[in-house]
Amino acid sequence: MSRELKIKAAEAAFEFVKDGMKLGIGTGSTADEFIRILGDNVAKGFSVIGVPTSERSAALCREVGVPLTTLDETPELDLTVDGADETDRALTLIKGGGGALLREKIVAAASADMVVIADDSKLVDTLGAFPLPIEVNPFGLGATRRAVEKCTQALGLSGEISLREADGKPYLTDGGHFILDASFGRIPDAEALSSALLEIPGVVQHGLFIGLASTVVLAGEGGITLLRR
Ligand code: A5P
Repeated sequence: MSRELKIKAAEAAFEFVKDGMKLGIGTGSTADEFIRILGDNVAKGFSVIGVPTSERSAALCREVGVPLTTLDETPELDLTVDGADETDRALTLIKGGGGALLREKIVAAASADMVVIADDSKLVDTLGAFPLPIEVNPFGLGATRRAVEKCTQALGLSGEISLREADGKPYLTDGGHFILDASFGRIPDAEALSSALLEIPGVVQHGLFIGLASTVVLAGEGGITLLRR
């Protein structure tokens, strides 16, 4: 996705933001463009306050002057704007390619509304070409991984389940957890997979976002398309 398309998606999402809103602020290269647009508008006198979904987004918000709060101070938000790795037409998403899925889901769930920004290549008929991130507690990794394999095989899913690495070490999320990336290829029943994964004690959260997004803003060469639920 070109930077130009990311900016266009972010500009279209900014139309949903009203003065005085309490925002959830997403993570990723598209969300970064949204944060820069927010910063430009705050500099012109627009008033918002935001909860960032990662340390990375928090740092960019500070850099461009977006005022921040926490879910402890501000437990209910008006709107979250965030990117996605895949969306289907029911607005079920795969998120977590950038490793921020847990905070992203906590923030989206605390928001009255969620608008997703992406380029149109992220719209798929069936989720799963993008590997599903599964955030796990480092304790008992081997047992958790085996349980994930067994439960997904029971659902008819197969494919490599690999531990995400960075600089030759397990990737650590902002919450101090690991991520398993599951390359299923197709996820025909996201609800069934979600329920099964959340039954496994070592699974902290997964990147399927079901029933959270109300609008997906897709930027393409032909312009902006809005998908709504
Ligand atoms: C971060 O953990 C992810 O959920 C991102 O929102 C997702 O990976 C989209 O990132 P880009 O906007 O960089 O494609």
